[in-house]
Amino acid sequence: MTSSVARVSADGIARVGEDLPHPERRETEPPMPKTSARQRMISIQGLKKSFGDTVIYDNFDIELPQEELISIFGPNGCGKSTLINMISGLMPMDAGEVLYDGQTIKETKISYVFQNYREALFPWLRAIDNIHYPLKVMGLPRRTREERVEQLLADFEIKIDLNAYPYTLSGGQQQTVSILRALVTEPEVLFLDEPFSALDYEMTLFMREQIQKIYLKTGTTTLLVSHDLEEAVQLADKVLLLTRRPTRVAEIVDVGLPWPRTTQVTTDSRFVDIKRHCLEVFWREVKAS
Ligand SMILES: Nc1ncnc2c1ncn2[C@@H]1O[C@H](COP(=O)(O)OP(=O)(O)OP(=O)(O)O)[C@@H](O)[C@H]1O
Ligand SMILES: [Mg+2]
Repeated sequence: MTSSVARVSADGIARVGEDLPHPERRETEPPMPKTSARQRMISIQGLKKSFGDTVIYDNFDIELPQEELISIFGPNGCGKSTLINMISGLMPMDAGEVLYDGQTIKETKISYVFQNYREALFPWLRAIDNIHYPLKVMGLPRRTREERVEQLLADFEIKIDLNAYPYTLSGGQQQTVSILRALVTEPEVLFLDEPFSALDYEMTLFMREQIQKIYLKTGTTTLLVSHDLEEAVQLADKVLLLTRRPTRVAEIVDVGLPWPRTTQVTTDSRFVDIKRHCLEVFWREVKAS
């Protein structure tokens, strides 16, 4: 199935293929792309992936806008992680093509934040050295690295002892370090696979604020897999709803609520309507045989 980028109808809910104007609901716009007014796109065409006899994707096509925060939500095991693993280049596709505004994955600077922060950080390196690590791999001189890291930390007012080893930090602090490590390379596309699912609720709410702060500051194209519908709506310009396997696009829902989105937004009637709509689509897809 081919999906165009969703357009939004009067009820604030986007349906793929409808050609209605984009809403101007934002109070705070994320930074505009520096290049031109033309929307840059991630284009996924003819994607195929099977594990043994299990077909996950079969001719999956989608176009997603860049410089937006897109959350991915769908039934358990439908292939959310597989999708971002393939389009970030971590996992081979059986067939298909992924282009970032015409550039291949190899030509695009990506960063990935894993769900399991405990296994993602290098335990033998202090937090600060974990953040430096990708810049070292890139071969940047020490001075340039230090400037980059200092700037990043200044931008996000991080209150963590970065001289500490990861095991002495809380889960949220470790995941913050993982996110900083992902950002320090100034990626064009940031992938996050359920980055808060191992954190407690208070820390999750804090991390939702952090992600928004980063997004509003950098405007980095962000693809966030979430199993929490509230989070998927709160942290997205668009929610990509997937079906059961073989996985297709159920719908792309345009959230269109102003940024930043505080916890209070989750009780806003427009938010509740969008979430309800996503849930209806989700149930329809889960029940479909
Ligand atoms: N390396 C693999 N080898 C075999 N099967 C796999 C592999 N990776 C994923 N799968 C299977 O492919 C399907 C999709 O997996 P994936 O992890 O992408 O789903 P998901 O939507 O991220 O699931 P969850 O909601 O549990 O995170 C699942 O049935 C899973 O068991
Ligand atoms: Mg997953």
